[in-house]
Amino acid sequence: MAVPEIRRVGVVGLGAMGSGIAQLAVETGYETVGREVTEELGEKARERIAHFLGRKVEKERLTAAERDDALGRLTLTTELADLADCDLVVEAIVEELGAKLELFAELERIVRADAILATNTSALSVTEIAGAVSTPERVVGMHFFNPAPLMPLVEIVRAELSSDDAVEAAFAVGERLGKRPIRCHDTPGFVVNRVLIPLLNDCIRVLDEARVSAGDLDTAMTAGAGWPMGPCTLVDLVGIDVHVHASEALYEKIREPRMAPPARIVAMKNAGLLGRKSGRGFYTYE
Ligand code: 3HC
Repeated sequence: MAVPEIRRVGVVGLGAMGSGIAQLAVETGYETVGREVTEELGEKARERIAHFLGRKVEKERLTAAERDDALGRLTLTTELADLADCDLVVEAIVEELGAKLELFAELERIVRADAILATNTSALSVTEIAGAVSTPERVVGMHFFNPAPLMPLVEIVRAELSSDDAVEAAFAVGERLGKRPIRCHDTPGFVVNRVLIPLLNDCIRVLDEARVSAGDLDTAMTAGAGWPMGPCTLVDLVGIDVHVHASEALYEKIREPRMAPPARIVAMKNAGLLGRKSGRGFYTYE
C-alpha cells in the first residue's frame, strides 16, 4: 500500500499519553488535531501541553516564539470527522478492546484510504484492533512510554496484516519525533511490557513478602539496581488502573502467574487509589 507523506497527525484521546504524543507532534512541526470527548477535557490537555512547553521556555530549551508556534499547530475537536485530513491517526483512548474496535471502524469511514491508523495500546492485540477495519494493512502499533515527551522509546508494532510501508512510515515518524523507535511483532506486551509488567508485579509482591515500605522498596531499586525511579513511584506514574489492566491482559494471554496483578494492587484500584492522577496511590500527591 502506498502511504502518504505524513504532514497532519491526529491524536484520539488526550489523557496522559495522548497529550504527551500531541505535544511531541506539535513540537516536531506536525499540524496536529487532538480529539477528546468533551471540550473541557480538550482544554485540560492544551493546558498540560502549554505547561510543559512553558517549562522548556523557562529552562531556555525552547524560545517563546517556538512555544507559540507549537501551540498554534494544535487544533482541538470533539468531532472525529475533523480528523478527515490526517495522514496518520494515533489512538490513545481507554484500554478497552470494544471501544477501540468501534473507534477504528469509525476512523476508517472518515480518513482517506491511504491514511495510517496507529494504536498506542499497551497490552491489547494490534491485530485484533485491526480486525475492526476492512483495510488492516494500514494499521500498526505505535507504543509510547510514560511520560511520552521524555521517554525515548517507541515500539513500532507490526500486526499480522500490517504492510511494510505502514510499518516503515510509522518508524520514520517515530524518528522525526526525536524517539528511538524499534520494530517488533504483535505479541502480548510487545517487548518492554512483556518484561516490565511481571517485574513490577514481583516488586509489589516483595512489599508484602519482605515487609518493606514503598519508600524503602523504591530506594532499594534506585540505589541498588540503578532504576531511574522506584517501582512504586513508577506504578503511581503509569496509573494503578492502567497497570492492573495491562497485567490482566498479559495474564489472560500468557498465563504465567507473575503476569497476574497482585491482590494488593487490585484492591488499590477498586478503592480508587489510582496513583498520581487520583492524588493517591502508593504515595499521596498534592
Ligand atoms: N510531559 C511532558 N514533560 C514532562 C512530563 C510530562 N508528563 N513530566 C515531566 N516533564 C518535564 C518537566 O518539565 C520536568 O521539568 P520540571 O520539573 O523542571 O518542570 C522535566 O520533564 C524533567 O523532569 P524530571 O526532573 O522529573 O526528569 P528526570 O530526570 O527525573 O526524569 C523520567 C524523569 C524520564 C520520567 C525518569 O524518572 C524515568 O526515566 N523514569 C522511568 C519511567 C519509565 O520507566 N516509564 C515507562 C513506564 S511503562 C510504560 O509507559 C508502558 C505503558 O504501556 C504502561
